[in-house]
Amino acid sequence: MTEPIIQLKNVSVEFNSKKKQVSAVNNVNLTINKGDIFGIVGYSGAGKSTLVRLINLLQKPTSGQVIVNKQNLLELSDKELRISRKKIGMIFQHFNLMNARTIFNNVAFALKGTDLSKKQKNDRVNELLDLVGLSDKANNYPSELSGGQKQRVGIARAIANHPDILISDEATSALDPKTTQSILELLDQINKKLGLTIVLITHQMEAIKQISHHVAVMDQGKIIEEGSVYQIFSEPQKSLTKSFINTTTRLDETLKVLYEQENVKHLSKDQKLLSLSYFGDSTDEPLISSLYEKFQVSANILYGNIEMLQGQPLGNLVVILSGTEQSVQNALNYLNESRVKVTELNPSEGDINELN
Ligand SMILES: Nc1ncnc2c1ncn2[C@@H]1O[C@H](COP(=O)(O)OP(=O)(O)O)[C@@H](O)[C@H]1O
Ligand SMILES: [Mg+2]
Repeated sequence: MTEPIIQLKNVSVEFNSKKKQVSAVNNVNLTINKGDIFGIVGYSGAGKSTLVRLINLLQKPTSGQVIVNKQNLLELSDKELRISRKKIGMIFQHFNLMNARTIFNNVAFALKGTDLSKKQKNDRVNELLDLVGLSDKANNYPSELSGGQKQRVGIARAIANHPDILISDEATSALDPKTTQSILELLDQINKKLGLTIVLITHQMEAIKQISHHVAVMDQGKIIEEGSVYQIFSEPQKSLTKSFINTTTRLDETLKVLYEQENVKHLSKDQKLLSLSYFGDSTDEPLISSLYEKFQVSANILYGNIEMLQGQPLGNLVVILSGTEQSVQNALNYLNESRVKVTELNPSEGDINELN
C-alpha cells in the first residue's frame, strides 16, 4: 500500500540579499510515501537542507504547497503547526547535544511539555536508550561518547515523541565508514520496527545505496532524477547521477588502472573493450559463455562485480571480446539486444565518464 505522507507541490525558495538572489529550491515536486526510506543526494549547495526544512516549515516556501500527513502546513495556525512539527523528528551532522546534561537528560529534554508522568518519562527514556543501544551510557556526558554514540543519542531524542517522519540531514557525514554503516543499520531497523518514514539527506551515494528504497538526485535547486534505488542504480539517465553511482562502485578508478595494462593499451581491430552492466533477470543467463557458442567470440574478463541491491542482483563486467571483426560485431549486436547495457570503451581516449 502506498500512501503519500509528504507532498511538496511546485515549491520554490528564494533567498534575496543585496548582492545576489539565490534560487535554493526551484519549482520542486516531490511525493514521499508512508514507511519509505527516501534518499535525497546532491553536492553541497544543491538545496537539500533548504528542501527538507520545508517539510516542517522551518523554512517557508516563496511559492508552492507543503502537505504533510494530509495537512496543508501553510494553512495551519501557529499552535496547529507546533503540534504537527512534533510528528517530525530531525537529526543532524553535528548532533546538537547539550554538553552540560547527561545522556539520559538529553533524551528526557525532548519529553518536556508532554503530559507524561515522571515515571512514564523515565520509562520512555530508558526504552529509547535501549532501542539505540546506549542503556549503559545513561549517566555519561556527551563529551564521553564517540561520534557514533552521540548520533545514537540524537536519534533517541528525535524519535522520543513517536514521530511519523524522521529527517536525517547529513547525519552520517561526520562519521567514519564503519560507524556510518552502524548508524544506517539503526535507521533501517527503526524504519522496519516503527514504520517510521525516513528522509535521508546526504552527499554520500553509498549511504543511499545501503538503506534507501527511493532516491532523488538534486542539483541547483532542482530534482533532476528520481526513482527506486534499483532503477536509478541500474539505469541512471543523468551524468550527475552516474558520477554519484561511480563513487560507490569505483568503476572509474578500476578503469584507470585497466587502461594502463599492456593488453588493454594495444587492442587489435578484432578486439573490443566493453563495459557490461547487467541487472535483474539478465544475470541468470550464461551470456559470456554463449558468446563463444554463438559467435566464436571469446571474452577475457578483466573486472567483475556483482552485488545485491534491494534483493536484486546488479553487476558490472569489463571484458575484452576477441574474434574476427565481423563476429565481434555480431556478438556486440547480440549483447545490445539482451538486457545488458553495453558501453564500448576507448582506452586511448581515456573515456570513463560515460559509465555507470
Ligand atoms: N538562510 C539562507 N540565506 C541565504 N542563502 C541561503 C540560506 N540558506 C541556504 N542558502 C543558499 O541556498 C543554496 C542551497 O543551500 P542548502 O539548502 O544548504 O544546500 P545543501 O544542503 O544541499 O548543501 C546555497 O547556495 C546556499 O548558499
Ligand atoms: Mg545541507
